[in-house]
Order: sequence, then C-alpha cells, then structure tokens
Amino acid sequence: MAQRVALITGGGKRIGAATVSLLLDNDWFVFIHVRSSISEAQAILQTYEQKNGSKAQAEIIQADLNSDEDLATLIGVVLNHEKVKLNGGLHALIHNASIYSSEDYASVSLESLRLNTRLHIEVPFLLTQGLLTPLKSGQGCVIGMIDTSLGRAWKGLSHYTASKAGLRQLMMNLAGDLAPEIRVNCVAPGAIIAADWESEHFASVLEKVPLGRAGEPTDVAQAILFLLNSTYLSGQTINVDGGWSVSP
Ligand SMILES: NC(=O)c1ccc[n+]([C@@H]2O[C@H](COP(=O)([O-])OP(=O)(O)OC[C@H]3O[C@@H](n4cnc5c(N)ncnc54)[C@H](OP(=O)(O)O)[C@@H]3O)[C@@H](O)[C@H]2O)c1
Repeated sequence: MAQRVALITGGGKRIGAATVSLLLDNDWFVFIHVRSSISEAQAILQTYEQKNGSKAQAEIIQADLNSDEDLATLIGVVLNHEKVKLNGGLHALIHNASIYSSEDYASVSLESLRLNTRLHIEVPFLLTQGLLTPLKSGQGCVIGMIDTSLGRAWKGLSHYTASKAGLRQLMMNLAGDLAPEIRVNCVAPGAIIAADWESEHFASVLEKVPLGRAGEPTDVAQAILFLLNSTYLSGQTINVDGGWSVSP
C-alpha cells in the first residue's frame, strides 16, 4: 500500500513539531518545512528513532517563506521528490507557519501588515496552487491553521486577525474550487502555547476558557490527523480551544 505523504510549514517547533511527531507515529512520510528551526526538526527525528529503533520517514526543507525564490524551491523539491512520485502524490498540505505580535492599531506599520498577509494568505495561496497536481493525484487534504479570533475584536491584533480571517476564507473557497479531488479544512487553536510577549498575562487569558486550562500541542495535532483521516469532511473548521469560542 502507498505511504501517505505530508508537507507541513513551520514544522520544527511547538504545534508544528507535535503534528510532525503524530504523523510519523502514524506512518506518514513528512516534509518538515522550517525557516530557522533546523536543529529542532532534527531533534524530532532523533526522538522518533530512539523511540522506534528505525529511521523516521521525513525530510527537512529549509525556506524563508517571505522569499519568492525560496517558496519556488520548496514547491520544486516536493513536486520532484521520489516519495511523491512513488506514492501517487501529496496527501496532506498543512499551512502552519505563522507570525504573531501585538501592535497598537494607531501605529502598526504597513510592513507588519504585509508580513502577516504574506505568510497567512499569499503563501498558502501560492503553495497550494504550486502543489495542485500532486494534491489532486493524491486526493489530498489541505489544512489552514487559523485561530479562534474570528468575528470578535482583539486589542492590538488587527494585522494578525485580519490575515487569519483571510486564510479561513481562502480555505473555505478552495474547498469549493478544488472539490472533488482535494478536501480543504481549517483547525483553529485557542490558548495552546503563549508567545513570549504574552506569557505574563496568559493566566488571565485562561480564565476565559471554559475548560480552565491551556490546550496541549498534541490536542491540535490530533484534530489535524482527524481531518486528514476523515475523507467526507471538507470546508470545515475545528476549534481546539477548550470552549473559548462559545464562551460569553
Ligand atoms: N500557539 C497557540 O496557542 C496558537 C493559538 C492560535 C492559533 N495558533 C496557530 O497555530 C499554528 C501553530 O502555532 P505555533 O504557536 O506553534 O506557531 P509559531 O511558533 O508562531 O510559528 C510556527 C513557525 O512558523 C515559522 N515561520 C515564521 N515566519 C516564517 C517565514 N518567514 N518563513 C518560514 N517559516 C516561518 C517559524 O519557523 P522557524 O522556527 O523554523 O523559523 C515558526 O516555528 C499557527 O498557524 C498559529 O497561528 C496557535
């Protein structure tokens, strides 16, 4: 039987790393895209090898997604890879790479807005488009990593939330455009791992979460795997947020 093949962007750390480990544990071949976290990605593979006594089925690909050249190289590596050719295509594409900062709307720069829209909208748009052929042949599933901010006001995050809302709409639109060969879904984490700048007030954030605690990166990874395995699900969003999105 063919091995399933996935590409995840920003897969070296945190939620991306948990997703890579879960996919490897479920016998996927994983292209782990990183920008700077090469040693972290290598550590995921070493941990797998120590645990299982066999080599992890994975390849680390480095690319700065702000660079058109790097993005084209990433697409080319996947398109021409023997694992993709031998296994009938690409079965999963997970748009996980992200940036997240708080900046007052009155002073947030155009550059900051553009970096967010580049990584959260433009790159998923172009990467999905560049990989359409193997995604179609593999009957693949594309997943956009958004968040639970949709439809509410979040102080100092306009540049970020607007771009994640754009990613959500892009994914919903592609669920229509790319059917029936390709499924497209979203996962929306809530409070999972704090960014450095928000770690001090993370406890007050958690007070608003009905389950009263942060989620684990593996909670998010499980939702991703569920969507990949659920072949009649498309155009859906799973909130992994301890009930935050429905709390008053
Ligand atoms: N953490 C949470 O609680 C939370 C909450 C809501 C939504 N989410 C969403 O869930 C996903 C995973 O969250 P996370 O906190 O684990 O993500 P993260 O650490 O903020 O970012 C993931 C990776 O994105 C990569 N990245 C950033 N800029 C890049 C660029 N220009 N080119 C290439 N890669 C770039 C980085 O790779 P390198 O390290 O290799 O540089 C980074 O490790 C994200 O989409 C995030 O928006 C997370």
